Amino acid sequence: MTIEEEQARFLRCIGETTRLGILKLLVEGEKCVGELASVLNKEQSLISHHLRALKECNIVKDEQEAQKVYYKLTDVRLARLIIDSEALMKELSLCQMSGGALMEEKKIKEVVKGRYAQLAKQDQESCCSSCGGSVSPSAQAEAIGYLRKDLADIPEETIMGLGCGNPTALAELKTGEVVLDLGSGAGVDVFLAANKVGPTGKAIGVDMTKEMVDRAEEIAKNYGYRNVEFRLGEMEKLPVEDESVDVIISNCVINLSPDKSKVFQEAYRVLKPKGRLIVSDIVSEGALPSEIKNDLNAWACCIAGALEQQEYLEEIKKAGFEDVQVLSSKEFYIEGEGSQALTKLLSITVKAYK
Ligand SMILES: C[S@@+](CC[C@H](N)C(=O)[O-])C[C@H]1O[C@@H](n2cnc3c(N)ncnc32)[C@H](O)[C@@H]1O
Repeated sequence: MTIEEEQARFLRCIGETTRLGILKLLVEGEKCVGELASVLNKEQSLISHHLRALKECNIVKDEQEAQKVYYKLTDVRLARLIIDSEALMKELSLCQMSGGALMEEKKIKEVVKGRYAQLAKQDQESCCSSCGGSVSPSAQAEAIGYLRKDLADIPEETIMGLGCGNPTALAELKTGEVVLDLGSGAGVDVFLAANKVGPTGKAIGVDMTKEMVDRAEEIAKNYGYRNVEFRLGEMEKLPVEDESVDVIISNCVINLSPDKSKVFQEAYRVLKPKGRLIVSDIVSEGALPSEIKNDLNAWACCIAGALEQQEYLEEIKKAGFEDVQVLSSKEFYIEGEGSQALTKLLSITVKAYK
């Protein structure tokens, strides 16, 4: 028999749950059938059957002691092999987990990008039910707290009704400040911020959807904005220099990220010392039902990715932010498919300092 054939025979022999259980117990020391059966919670006849198979492969041997037959491993190296194969299994399942998580992350981003690419190409559109209904984007924007007079000062094409709050209103922006908007979409908050910081300041929008960046850039060009800039990129890996920004804003975007801790770490990195973060976002009260959490469309609609409020605030603190406060909070309810219970979500605006 070749070494490979020997190995295959060995693996076939131990490749059974009860046999592996027996071997693990024998690593601890010799045992009789009764002991093995009771620990493994199996019939003695079944244990005897597996012990015979293990004996035939010369993995186990038996010895008569007084009235009893005891089973032990033929070779101590076997113990090492078993332990090694367990480590291998752990290694494999970890690889599968991280690979799975990565796959999931990629899939989420593809679906989110697909949705916003489609919206960017439409004339005017408002978001899913989490951020409004069938009302016009301007009416939707006013409903979530934008002032009509502020909206009148920015290009209409930038108002898509995709936000869930009004972070620029609460950011107390000053002339000359540099503002960064995470997930800027068509740029509504970037244009509002640009008006507030004036020509000596700057408003930068980052968005991972090319169609959104193209739309925002075109609006900026058509209306002659000189203090705005739109960059294609992900908020988990911001295309922005360290400590270069005074204020970070974001509106209904961070919930879309599969890696929210990375988003807050990146926000912290690019803020200047004492810089501030003012973000509007969706959070949940209590855990979301699994049918919602596993629904990729609900993710793209700013629902399924919502963290519980406490967890969200903890993530901000963990990234190093201080003085984390909820400035505003508005509740709404969604109904899960097949579930009668309503789930409470909150649209909150949070402020924090570096
Ligand atoms: C609900 S819309 C909000 C847009 C904008 N903030 C507004 O209020 O109109 C979400 C935007 O975030 C962008 N986005 C989602 N995930 C992102 C990520 N990981 N990095 C950068 N942009 C992201 C989407 O492409 C989309 O334009």
